[in-house]
Amino acid sequence: DLPARVTIYEVGPRDGLQNERKAIPTDVKVAFIDMLTDAGFKKIEATSFVSPKWVPQLGDAAEVMARIRRAPGVSYPVLVPNMQGLTGALASGCGEVAVFAAASETFSKRNINCTVAESLKRFEKVATEARAAGARVRGYVSCAVGCPYEGRVEPQAAADVAAALQQMGCYEVSMADTIGVGTPASMEAMLKATLRQVSADKLAVHCHDTYGMAIANILTSLRMGVSVVDSSVAGLGGCPYARGATGNVATEDVLYMLDGYGIVHGIDMDAVLRASEFISGALGRPNGSRVARALLAR
Ligand code: HMG
Ligand code: MG
Repeated sequence: DLPARVTIYEVGPRDGLQNERKAIPTDVKVAFIDMLTDAGFKKIEATSFVSPKWVPQLGDAAEVMARIRRAPGVSYPVLVPNMQGLTGALASGCGEVAVFAAASETFSKRNINCTVAESLKRFEKVATEARAAGARVRGYVSCAVGCPYEGRVEPQAAADVAAALQQMGCYEVSMADTIGVGTPASMEAMLKATLRQVSADKLAVHCHDTYGMAIANILTSLRMGVSVVDSSVAGLGGCPYARGATGNVATEDVLYMLDGYGIVHGIDMDAVLRASEFISGALGRPNGSRVARALLAR
């Protein structure tokens, strides 16, 4: 059974842009986010309050948050790795933050410079403080099916981190195939283990499309009851601490699949295509979404 309605959690401005080497002007980021707002997204991950030494591209987080047009009913979450990030996020008026843990020790070290256990302890404090300040907290489990350093990841390892994030107050946990190595089989095994601890209505999936499996992996997840999908307009993106990982699944590709089933998503495809062409042009590269290229060629 497939859900009647799916929420797209758009990560293009954050996951999509964080890995770009050339500095993208703040103006471009703000215009891109405003175009996504106009396209009807209700969740737009706008930037990260992380160390600019680690992710220089998003060093303008406060300025981006100050300048975007915030539409009523739209949430503009940001990543926060620690209390310093939370302080910045709250000062910029964020109503939602995301903490990001991993199912792999080596990835945790490389991405946020601490062990998984240390990160969960840190995030528990962040989540508690965020909620006390009235902000919602989302959680990520990176490397939920595979790790660039350790290879295959045990489904139970991903499930345990998801459960810990939910217990600390995350309203939703996004299970991430950080390097896009998952297949429908490994996604199913991971979700099966996770669903024993976290219910489907509290889960999202976050698929990178390195091996071209993302759409199949998302469909597998929808069949298992997940109804929130992370994606990135034009298939932008990649994690700086996951070498070889390409972008997120393209939002256009997900929308096209949902439309095929008549699943409601509330997003205006033509407006997405405008945003997609805008950002691809600003980055000087061809549109990374096959669906966008096909629709634009009509
Ligand atoms: P650290 O070096 O251990 O941190 O990094 P520290 O506390 O020792 O601080 C070092 C310096 O950073 C200090 O500055 C701090 O002030 C500063 P200095 O005194 O040297 O001048 N600093 C900060 N500055 C601004 N904002 C902050 C902040 N925190 C410290 N929040 C740390 C630890 C977690 C900070 C670092 O490793 C970091 O920022 N990592 C973020 C990495 C990242 O953003 N990765 C990409 C996002 S995750 C992802 O893409 C996966 C996802 O898409 C899901 C998936 O696909 O898997 C979500
Ligand atoms: Mg990602």
